[in-house]
Amino acid sequence: MASSQEQKLFRKTYFFRPGYVLPVIMEKNNIETVVKNFEVRDEDVFLVTYPKAGTNWTAEIIDAIQNIDNIDILKERSLMEKVPLLELGPSTHPDLVEDGITQVPSFAKVILETMPKGSPRRIATHLRPDIAPVQLFEKKPKTIVVDRNPKDCLTSLYNWHLTVGFLDPLTWEEMFDAYMKGLTIFGDYCEFIKSWAEYKNEPWMFWIRYEDIKKDHKGSVKRIADFMGKSLTDSQLDEVVRVTDFQYMKKASETIKGRELVLRPGGTWQRKGVSGGWKNTFSVAQSEIFDKDYNEKMNGYEDLKYDF
Ligand code: A3P
Repeated sequence: MASSQEQKLFRKTYFFRPGYVLPVIMEKNNIETVVKNFEVRDEDVFLVTYPKAGTNWTAEIIDAIQNIDNIDILKERSLMEKVPLLELGPSTHPDLVEDGITQVPSFAKVILETMPKGSPRRIATHLRPDIAPVQLFEKKPKTIVVDRNPKDCLTSLYNWHLTVGFLDPLTWEEMFDAYMKGLTIFGDYCEFIKSWAEYKNEPWMFWIRYEDIKKDHKGSVKRIADFMGKSLTDSQLDEVVRVTDFQYMKKASETIKGRELVLRPGGTWQRKGVSGGWKNTFSVAQSEIFDKDYNEKMNGYEDLKYDF
C-alpha cells in the first residue's frame, strides 16, 4: 500500500527507470527516442541544470547575450519559446488534463526541430548525460552547466510543487523524505553533478554556480558571454544585467503568455532568488541527515562540494 506521500508524489510523476523519477509532463518514450536521437547543431548552446538551480535566470542571460540588439522585442516571447526545455512533452496525461494542462507538444520535436537552421538555438535540459542526446557528446556544442547549493535546490523544489499545476503539493517533511529516498524529480542531486563532472574540463563546457552569479552578476554575464564568443561592451553588459535582475524578471513574467497553464494562481518563477534560504526551511536534524548523505556521496569530488 503506497503511503499518502507516495500517492501525492506519484500522481504526476513516474519512474523513468528504477530509482529515477520524472514528471509525467515529460514522456518516457519521447526521451528514449526523440530526445536521445535529437539532431544537435554545431551552433546550438546547451544549458544543463539540476532543477531549481537557476535555469530560467541563466537562460534569460544567455538569450539576452545572444540577442543583445533585440532585447526588448524578445520580452514578448515566453522563455519556453526562447530556451525550450528539451525533455518537455508530449503529454495529454489524464491527471494533467484534469488540472487544465492539455496538449503539451514534444519540445524536442515540434519546437526545436522547426527552428530555422543557422540561427543558434538555446536548449535547456535537466537530464543526465546517459539519456541526453547522443550527438551532444559528438558535436560538442557550447554547453553551460549551472550548479546551485542542493539544499537551496530542494527548498526551491518544495515551493515549486506548491506553485505549478503539473506537480502536486507535498508538505516539507514529505519532500525532504522523498529526496532522501531518491524519489524527487530528476533524481539525486549528487548523481546529477557527478555524471556531468566527467565532462567538466572539456573546452566545450563552462561551469558556473548560481551563487557566483548572485555575488557578481555583471562579471558572471561577462564570463558567460566570453565563453559564448560574444564580446559585449560595458553598457551592453549593464543591459543584460538590467533585464536579468530578479525584480525585472519577476515583473516581466507576470505577462508571459501561457503562464496560467503552468502556474497556479499567484505563482511565480521568481520566488525568493537568494542563496542560503534553506536555513529557514530545514530543521537542524534534517540538515545533519542531508550533510551526512551528501558528504558520503560527494566523496572524491571535493572541488564540486558545497560548504554549507
Ligand atoms: P528560489 O525558489 O530559491 O527563489 P529554475 O529556473 O531552475 O527553476 O530555478 C528557480 C530558482 O531560480 C528560484 O529560486 C528562483 O527564484 C530563482 N531565480 C529566478 N530568476 C532569478 C533571478 N533573476 N535572479 C536570482 N534568482 C532567480
